[in-house]
Amino acid sequence: MVGAVRLFVAVPLSEEARHHMSHLLDGASLPGRPHHPEKWHITLRFLGEVDEVARDRVAACLDEADLGEPFRVRWGGLDAFPRASKANVLWVGVEHGFDHLEALHARVERALDGAGFPPEDRPFRPHLTLSRIRPQQDVTELVERTESLGVTMPVDRVTLYRSHLGRGAARYEELESFPLG
Ligand code: 2AM
Repeated sequence: MVGAVRLFVAVPLSEEARHHMSHLLDGASLPGRPHHPEKWHITLRFLGEVDEVARDRVAACLDEADLGEPFRVRWGGLDAFPRASKANVLWVGVEHGFDHLEALHARVERALDGAGFPPEDRPFRPHLTLSRIRPQQDVTELVERTESLGVTMPVDRVTLYRSHLGRGAARYEELESFPLG
């Protein structure tokens, strides 16, 4: 694909929540390769390799979409994919605002459908990736002993990101943001 870029749509963390959460997790010695706080986000939809024309269409559809009103989420405890006893991805879950995030996800899916990306079959599992673990580890004890982070933040925009793969960790570039409300 000529000029293709790897894209995803996500909710970025507020600066305040980013700092607060990284402070709370400081010294927790998380397993695996940590996701730097600068990169923290909630993925709404991963689009993969997209050419320039489709990229413009995605941006136009998100721009025209009714993304609903801003809301707040509260971050809860830790969990893992595919499961805590055999973890590949360690993440923070959403304790409050789950329904709002699901509704926002549905609105984004509708907008992207208009750009030629039909909705995904798999259920939406809102999460914030903290680290990627290879090989898998049992993180049950960590998940069970870590209390809810209790950090709240506003969700007032969604962002179109470009993922730059290379040697080492991927770099995420914010291309454009689309305000709620
Ligand atoms: P994550 O949300 O669990 O961290 C960019 O790669 C972002 O899109 C990451 O946040 C990643 O997972 C998410 N993502 C979802 N599906 C993906 C896929 N099939 N390949 C790569 N990343 C994916």
